[in-house]
Amino acid sequence: MHIRRCAVVFIEPRERLDFDLGRLVAGGTGVEMLREWIALAAHLDDEIALDTAELAALGALSLEEWIDFDDACRTLPREALERLLDKGLLLGDGDDHAGTRERDEQVRTSHWRGLAATVHRHTRWSGVDTLEAERRFGEETDRPFLERLGEPESPVRERVEPSRRMALQPARESSLEVLIRQRVTCRNWDASRPLSAEDFASTLFRTFAARAVSDEPGITVMKRAVPSAGGLHPTEAYLLVQNVEGVPPGLYHYHPIDHALEPLSDIAADDSQALALRIVAGQRHFMKAHVIIILASRFRRTFWKYRNHAKAYRAIILDAGHLSQTLYLAAAERGLAAFITAAVNERDIEEIFGLDPMLEGVLAVSGFGWRGELVDEVEFDPLRSVWPRSR
Ligand SMILES: Cc1cc2nc3c(=O)[nH]c(=O)nc-3n(C[C@H](O)[C@H](O)[C@H](O)COP(=O)(O)O)c2cc1C
Repeated sequence: MHIRRCAVVFIEPRERLDFDLGRLVAGGTGVEMLREWIALAAHLDDEIALDTAELAALGALSLEEWIDFDDACRTLPREALERLLDKGLLLGDGDDHAGTRERDEQVRTSHWRGLAATVHRHTRWSGVDTLEAERRFGEETDRPFLERLGEPESPVRERVEPSRRMALQPARESSLEVLIRQRVTCRNWDASRPLSAEDFASTLFRTFAARAVSDEPGITVMKRAVPSAGGLHPTEAYLLVQNVEGVPPGLYHYHPIDHALEPLSDIAADDSQALALRIVAGQRHFMKAHVIIILASRFRRTFWKYRNHAKAYRAIILDAGHLSQTLYLAAAERGLAAFITAAVNERDIEEIFGLDPMLEGVLAVSGFGWRGELVDEVEFDPLRSVWPRSR
């Protein structure tokens, strides 16, 4: 067998509290601070603890050159190498290691920048319920929020004395200004009122559709409502449609050039909100949105041009922000409301839609629909632009 190291792995020195009953019985507190090395690899979901022998062996092996396992054992401890193979940080060229090798190959051939790949893979959630976590946190401490966190940074950075500020002309009233004022993140939905097919299609069109397609010079690119690094538009819209006239509840992919839905699978209406809740990590205030949109980026589309580029991942994340703001305004134009959240269960979403995290990664979840009549969940509307409501 031949072996080599995986393409991207970062090592983090960690400290954690460890409790041991034996130590308590022996007369101490039972609590000890443990220091350990944690490997974060771009092709593996798990965080992997390493001992110093494994750490040294990992650092001694090439990420490019395959070498004979027995030859490696002449200079490095065999047990440490075997453990690294088991943990997936070393790759073998045999069938036993094919799965890990393929995942590593994906990272290599996608032109990921190592640090960005590691951040992307290891900041994904699975099965998180944020509201439940918040409730538990609230129970653990009865100190008020401000006392717990201290004062926040001031809302504005002031660089000169107020007297030196140059006042600017106020912006004139305009249709854009009206839309901007209507943009209030929605956390209260009217599930009794389905979205019309026209509102649905129009909002998707304004946000995600290609207005034109250009083949110059030999590369097909779309013109969209939003800017995108290199004009490459890597970000896809995957939909959980819950409550739209003429569109059966289910999972869909939006085709921006044809302005069409690609049906992926039906979802029973009764199961839909539970699925939505899983997607938005237990945030009940988003689960009844008529349409939930997963913003997932095809990294290879951008990394094809910006290979191993320090800025490429950041540029892709910015796309999600542009799309979300456009969605808010497009929804507002039709009297609808929208939301965005980054507190999402990416790993659950990947499973639901069949996405590979390093090829088509979930960046955020957005959505839109009719705002409800009653405020159950707080919305930030100091201008009273959308509350109180009457149809
Ligand atoms: C990247 C991002 C992540 C957000 N995540 C959440 C979230 O997890 N839950 C939520 O209720 N709102 C979320 N929001 C919405 C903000 O809470 C909201 O924008 C803020 O309270 C200001 O309200 P406004 O959008 O109505 O002006 C998020 C917004 C952004 C831009």
